[in-house]
Amino acid sequence: MAKKKSKTKAKARSKPAAKKSARKVVKLAAKKPAKKAAAKNGNGAPRISSKPYGLDGKALTGVRILDFTHVQSGPTCTQLLAWFGADVIKVERPGVGDITRGQLVDVKGADSLYFTMLNHNKRSITIDSKHPQGMRVLNALIKTCDVLVENFAPGALDRMGLTWEYIHKLNPRMIVASVKGFGPGPYEDCKVYENVAQCAGGSASTTGFRDGPPLVTGAQIGDSGTGLHLALGIVSALYQRNRTGRGQKVLCAMQDGVLNLSRVKLRDQQRLAHGPLTEYSQYGEGIPFGDATPRAGNDSGGGQPGRILKCKGAPEDPNAYIYFITQAPVWGPICDLIGEPTWKTDPEYATPRARLPKLNQIFARIEEWTMTKTKFEVMNACNEVDIPVGPILSMKELAQEQSLRDTGTVVEVDHPVRGKYLSVGNPIKMSDSISEVTRSPLLGEHTDEILTKVLGFKAAEVAEIKNSGALSAPEKKEKAA
Ligand code: COA
Repeated sequence: MAKKKSKTKAKARSKPAAKKSARKVVKLAAKKPAKKAAAKNGNGAPRISSKPYGLDGKALTGVRILDFTHVQSGPTCTQLLAWFGADVIKVERPGVGDITRGQLVDVKGADSLYFTMLNHNKRSITIDSKHPQGMRVLNALIKTCDVLVENFAPGALDRMGLTWEYIHKLNPRMIVASVKGFGPGPYEDCKVYENVAQCAGGSASTTGFRDGPPLVTGAQIGDSGTGLHLALGIVSALYQRNRTGRGQKVLCAMQDGVLNLSRVKLRDQQRLAHGPLTEYSQYGEGIPFGDATPRAGNDSGGGQPGRILKCKGAPEDPNAYIYFITQAPVWGPICDLIGEPTWKTDPEYATPRARLPKLNQIFARIEEWTMTKTKFEVMNACNEVDIPVGPILSMKELAQEQSLRDTGTVVEVDHPVRGKYLSVGNPIKMSDSISEVTRSPLLGEHTDEILTKVLGFKAAEVAEIKNSGALSAPEKKEKAA
C-alpha cells in the first residue's frame, strides 16, 4: 500500500488545494459550485473511475498483510482479505508450516483439505522467527506491510520479541490484529479451540434438546466466525487509518465472537425475568423454565414456532427433512396446503396464542403432509404461497448444486500435488471487486520471490540469510551436519 498510498495521498492533497484556489477566485460568488462538487463526489470520495466494473483492481488492492495465522480462525480472516485483493504473505515455521497442512490428510504427500480450503490466494514464506536472521526478514516485512494478523497462543507474539511497542516503532501505521480465545480477564492466558469457544460463548448451553446434553454445532462459529469478525475490524482500522495515518490493535476474542452470534439467547435470558418464553416448545408442553435460557431443540430463535419435519424418504435418508415455520402471517396458506382449511377460523387454532399449547399436535399434522412429499416438493409447494421453509441439504447435495457453482460459492480448484478439489469460494459478492479463487501455496513456495521482489534483498543478502538456517528446517541442518 505504501507505494500506492503516495499516489492516493497526492490526489487527496490536491483536492483541498484545488478547492482553496477556487474559493479565492470566486470568493464573493455564491457557494453553489462547492456544493455541486460535494454532491458529485459523494461525501469526499475520490473521482469516479472510468474503468468498467470489475476492472479497476479489487477492494483491498495495495494492502499488504503479514499473515502470522495458523489453524482456522486467523486463516479464515486472511483468506477473506486475500479474496478482496490484499497481498497476503503467510509466514510459516520452516519444515513444519501451519499445523493443518498435515492434519486430516486424505491424499498422501499433499497438503490437507483443512489447509488448502483456508489458505487460498496467499503466498507462503518460511521464517524461523526466533532466529536473528529470521527477525531481520520479519523486520523488513513489518516495515512494508499494512496489517499483521496473528492467532498465536496468548503471549507467543511477545515472546518472539514482536510486542506492539516494537512493531509500532518500526511501522507506526501497522495494524496489529489478533484472535485470542478470551479477552482480558480470568481466562486470558488460556489456549482455545473451536468447541471450547462454542461452550464458553453460550452457544453450547443453548443448543440441543432440553432433556439432552449441551451440543456443539457443525458450523465453525468459534473459529471461522471470529475470523469474520476480525476481518471487519481490520477493514475498519484500515479505513480509520486513512484519516489518522496511524495503526491500532484489533482484538477479537473467540468467546466474544460466539456470544455475539448467540445474542438472541442473551435476549431470552433477560426475558425470563418477565415470564416464560412462550415461543419455546416447553411452554406449550407445560414444562416450567429454570433461571437460564434453556436448550430449545429446533425451535426458531425468531419467536415464530418452527420444527424440523420428516419428508418422503425419512428416516432412512438422514437428510429427508425440512424446517417448517408456522409463521402467523401465512397461517391461512399453511392450513389450505395441509388440508385443514377450518383451522383458519376455528378459535382453537386461528390465533398464535391459541396454537401455542397445541404445537406438538399441529406440527404432527403438518408432518403427515410433508411426509407425502420430498423436501424439494414441499419447498416448491410452500414457496408458491410465500411460506418460508428450509430443506435440510446434505454436503453432497450442496457440492452438486449447480447454482452455487454458477455464483462461485462452490468452486473447483486445481492443486499441483493433490489435483482438483472443491472449496467454498468467497461468500461475499461485490460488483466491482470480483474474487477469483487461486490455490493455496506450498510451504515456502514464495520465499525467494518475497525476499527479492517484495523486500528488495540483494543476492548476497539472500544467500547470507539462507545460509544462516533462518529459513529452513532444523532437521535438515542436523542431517547435513
Ligand atoms: N518460527 C518460530 N517459532 C514459531 C513460528 C515461527 N515461524 N510460528 C510459531 N512459532 C512458535 C510460537 O512462537 C510458539 O512458541 P512459544 O510458545 O515457545 O512462545 C509456538 O510456536 C506455538 O505457538 P502456539 O500459538 O502456542 O501454538 P499451539 O499449537 O501450542 O496452540 C492454539 C494452538 C490455536 C491453541 C493457540 O495458538 C491459541 O490459543 N490461539 C488463539 C486462539 C485461536 O485462534 N484458536 C483457534 C485456532 S483455530
